Amino acid sequence: MSRLDSAIRRLEAQRACLDVACTAVAAVPGVILEAGLGNGRTYDHLRSRLPGREIFVFDRQVDAHPDCIPDAAHLFLGDLFDRLPDAIARLGRTAALIHSDIGTGEPGRNACVAAALAPLYARLLVPGGVLASDQAMPAATWTALPLPAGVPTGRYFLYRAGD
Ligand SMILES: C[S@@+](CC[C@H](N)C(=O)[O-])C[C@H]1O[C@@H](n2cnc3c(N)ncnc32)[C@H](O)[C@@H]1O
Repeated sequence: MSRLDSAIRRLEAQRACLDVACTAVAAVPGVILEAGLGNGRTYDHLRSRLPGREIFVFDRQVDAHPDCIPDAAHLFLGDLFDRLPDAIARLGRTAALIHSDIGTGEPGRNACVAAALAPLYARLLVPGGVLASDQAMPAATWTALPLPAGVPTGRYFLYRAGD
């Protein structure tokens, strides 16, 4: 498989998982959190799939397409580990959906970061809310959701928050 094939498959899997996550939270009230704005592709997808929902975005810096930059009130700029506590204080447990897309090319580091993020995300996700993540992020009160057809195990991760 060429690197182009691989990139296309990765993005198709991401889109399929986000679509499943958006459907899964259609009846779950709450805000949407996007951790990892990047160039704004998935932010743009989420706002197109969940019109009318308030979306808050996290990133170290803003480097997105100009059409995909949230206003300052919806942007938590800085390191996630500094800004998630601010979001918890400001928003509380009000997130219907968290999309976490912050992985690097280092599997060991990704696992450590994911383990540290899970308890912070757990303080934001409402019961019945969904986490879509590029990293495995098991937590005691979360249940893994099935991936959409065609998405291989381990490519993306979906969890439903319990009480
Ligand atoms: C793969 S890109 C996100 C791509 C984006 N979702 C899109 O579709 O365009 C990962 C982003 O996560 C951000 N990021 C990674 N680790 C972070 C951290 N600890 N704190 C804040 N942002 C972080 C990076 O700056 C980068 O913009």
